Amino acid sequence: MTKTEEPAAGTRPEGAGNEAEAARRVRDLFGAIAPRYDFLNHLLSFSCDRWWRRRTARRVRDWLRPGSCVLDVCCGTGDLTFALEREAHKQAGGSVAICGGDFVHGMLVRAREKAIARSSGSCFLGVDALALPFADGCFDLIAVAFGFRNLANYAVGIEEFRRVLRSGGLLAILEFSEPPGPVFGRLYRFYFERILPGIGGLISGNRRAYGYLPTSVARFPSPEDLAESLRTAGFANVRYERWMGGIVALHLAQRPGTKNAKVEAS
Ligand SMILES: C[S@@+](CC[C@H](N)C(=O)[O-])C[C@H]1O[C@@H](n2cnc3c(N)ncnc32)[C@H](O)[C@@H]1O
Repeated sequence: MTKTEEPAAGTRPEGAGNEAEAARRVRDLFGAIAPRYDFLNHLLSFSCDRWWRRRTARRVRDWLRPGSCVLDVCCGTGDLTFALEREAHKQAGGSVAICGGDFVHGMLVRAREKAIARSSGSCFLGVDALALPFADGCFDLIAVAFGFRNLANYAVGIEEFRRVLRSGGLLAILEFSEPPGPVFGRLYRFYFERILPGIGGLISGNRRAYGYLPTSVARFPSPEDLAESLRTAGFANVRYERWMGGIVALHLAQRPGTKNAKVEAS
């Protein structure tokens, strides 16, 4: 295969030969685990996932101003949407429009049930992150938690996020990463590759879905490479931080423009 024929970088679940098949498999996989998704997320991460999303919301608080429009892409059951909403209440008293979007119906059903239970003002829509049904420049903030890795074409995803962000708008990508240290890295891989798929498979009844998680993380670009892709796509102020020894990384990048809000430490 010559350089020009190489497939675009994106997720490839087992058996997927091209982008369309990859997207279909990702959709089937998340559809199958949607009912047990929250429970397993909290169990398998020892509830760290809640803290990671809350911390992300704090990091982007300067973009949660009165009148801001926010999109949580690949929102799943809405936990990042709700974390953003909570932070927006603190910052802007609730006058922020927040929307979650995902392409798996079962995830959106669960997100809407949770929204009703907590009297949330956020809306949840069926959207494909690779073809967002929004006009150019309409969002102040786009946030993605553990969803970007599952896109069938990373470059198209990044371009879509850039397109729908307004000048000065912020993109925040929270994603799993492989910890760099040799000792912690080995421990992490043992848990992630051996223990997690077993427990996840047993409880969800879908071992393939939880086997996909470590494989997709291992294939995912390093934080340095993802940062470089964001710069190449025209984002400015690109930076990332590794959390918890590098298990997860938060990437922040701005669409070039006029807004001067800074990302504060928290
Ligand atoms: C690991 S879950 C993360 C869900 C949620 N953000 C969270 O923090 O728990 C990944 C989500 O990305 C969604 N997803 C993957 N590819 C997508 C695409 N092309 N368009 C929309 N959603 C997508 C899946 O349906 C799934 O709900």
